[in-house]
Amino acid sequence: MTKEATYKERYRPQYHFSMRRGWINDPNGLVHHNGLYHMFCQHYPDDTKWGRMHWSHATSPDMISWTEQPIALYPDELGTVFSGSAVVDWKNTSGLGEAGDPPLLAFYTAAGNQITPQVPYTQCLAFSTDNGHSWRKYGDNPVLRHVEANNRDPKVFWYGPTESWIMVLYLEGGTFGLFGSPDAKNWKELSRFDVPGNCECPDLFEMPVAGNDNDRKWIFLSGAGRWSEGDCARYVIGSFDGTTFSPESDPIPIEWGGWNYSTQTYSDAPAGRHISVGWFSTAFDGSAAFPGNPFNGQYRVPWELTLVQTEEGPRLAKLPVEELNELRRPALHLPAGEYAAGNHAVAGLDSRSIDVECVIEPKGANSVGFLFEGVEAVCYNIPSRTIQVLDRKHAWPLEPDGTLTLRMLFDVNCVEVFGPRGLDVISGIYSLDTLQVQDETQPSLSFRVLGGPTRVTRMAVYPIRSIWQDNEKDTSIGIGPPHR
Ligand code: FRU
Repeated sequence: MTKEATYKERYRPQYHFSMRRGWINDPNGLVHHNGLYHMFCQHYPDDTKWGRMHWSHATSPDMISWTEQPIALYPDELGTVFSGSAVVDWKNTSGLGEAGDPPLLAFYTAAGNQITPQVPYTQCLAFSTDNGHSWRKYGDNPVLRHVEANNRDPKVFWYGPTESWIMVLYLEGGTFGLFGSPDAKNWKELSRFDVPGNCECPDLFEMPVAGNDNDRKWIFLSGAGRWSEGDCARYVIGSFDGTTFSPESDPIPIEWGGWNYSTQTYSDAPAGRHISVGWFSTAFDGSAAFPGNPFNGQYRVPWELTLVQTEEGPRLAKLPVEELNELRRPALHLPAGEYAAGNHAVAGLDSRSIDVECVIEPKGANSVGFLFEGVEAVCYNIPSRTIQVLDRKHAWPLEPDGTLTLRMLFDVNCVEVFGPRGLDVISGIYSLDTLQVQDETQPSLSFRVLGGPTRVTRMAVYPIRSIWQDNEKDTSIGIGPPHR
C-alpha cells in the first residue's frame, strides 16, 4: 500500500483534532496562556491502541489550527501518565515560578498499576516555566497520596473566596472527592459526593445563569456509562461553598449521540469564556478495521458553553466556538423555496468537511434528511419530532416558530448536529468504507424529502478549510519515537 501523506489520509478528519500518529483518548491539561491554547492528550505513541499513557502536547492560537509539540510527560517509576488538568499559577503559590512570571502547573495521575513493580495510583504535579513549551515533573511527587481504589483524573481550579486551589478527583463507583491546597503541593481532603452512574474525568466550574452574574451555579461534569452504548459525559447543576458540592439536578447527558467522553473545560480561557473539548471516541483501530491508518482517536471541535434558563431549570447550551467560522469557504446554497418529495443534491460540493446551516418549514413532509455520501446520516421525523443521526435517535423539538433549525458539522468520518440554542446536540461517527460512496473524487450531500413537500428557508453549505494545511510536510514521526 502506498503511504498516504500525513493529514491527507483517507480517514483523517480535516477540522477535528487528531494526532499524526498513535492513539489518543482524553483531552488533558486544557489551559490558555499568553495567547496560546495548550492541549495535552492521553497518548500512546507506539501503537494505534491504548497502551502506556503519555501526555502529548499541541498548541493553537485559536483552538482551531493546531501544531503538535514534543511529548510533554513520559511514564516513570510512579506510573504511566493518566488524565489531569493544567492551570496558570498567577500568584506563584507553588513557588515554582517567579513573581511576575507565573509557572504553568499540570496535575496528572500516576497510574501505578501500569508499571513493574506496581504501586498505587497517586496524583502528581508537573510544571513549566517557559510558557508551557517544556515540562518538568515536581521533585517531591506525588503531591496527593493514594486515597482510594484507582483514584484518578485531577481537575484543579483556583477558588478566590478561600484563596486556595481545589482539586476534584474521581475516587470509585460514582464517588468523587474534593481536595484543597494553598500552594498546589500540599493537599487535604475537603469532602466527597456521589453522582451514581458517573465516573472518571471530573470537572467543576461556576457559570452565570443566562448571563446574570448575580445568579451563578456550579456545573459538575464527568464521564458516564463507561464504554457502553451511550458513552457520554453527563453534568449536574449545583452549588459549591469552597468545601462541599451540593447537587441540585439529576445528571443530564451533555448530548444525545454518545461518542463524547471525558469532556474538559479550559482553565484561564480569555474573557471568562467556558470552552470544552471532548473525546470523540472513535472505534477506529488502525491495525484491524482500518489497515494502515496511523492514528486512532479525535476530539470534538471546541464548544462554547453557556448556562441558559429553560422550563426545566438552567441547562448547558453548547455551540461550536465562533473561531470555527474562520475556516468557512464561500457557501454553496440550496435555494430557498418549496422542495417536492425526493432527493435534492447540493451542486458543486468539493469537500467532505462541511458546515451546514439550515432552516426548514416542514409543511406536508413526513421526514427531511441529509444523505452524506449516499447514506442518510441525519433524518428528522416530523410527526414524532425525533432526530436520527446514523444509529442514534432522540426527541428533538421544532422551534417555537415551527421551523427545524440545524447546524451540522460533517468532517470525513463524523458529524456533530446542534440545535439553534445549542441545548440539543447529537452526533455520530462513520467510516467512508461503510458509506455508499459513489465517486471517491466527488463528495456528495443531498437533501432528502419524504411524504410531501417541504419549504427551505435557508440552506447554506460551507466547505471547511483543512486545519492541517501548514502541517502537511512533516511525516517524520512514525509509530514508536524514542523514549526518554
Ligand atoms: C478515561 C480514562 C481515565 C484515565 C485515562 C487513561 O477515558 O480511563 O479515567 O485517566 O482514561 O488513559
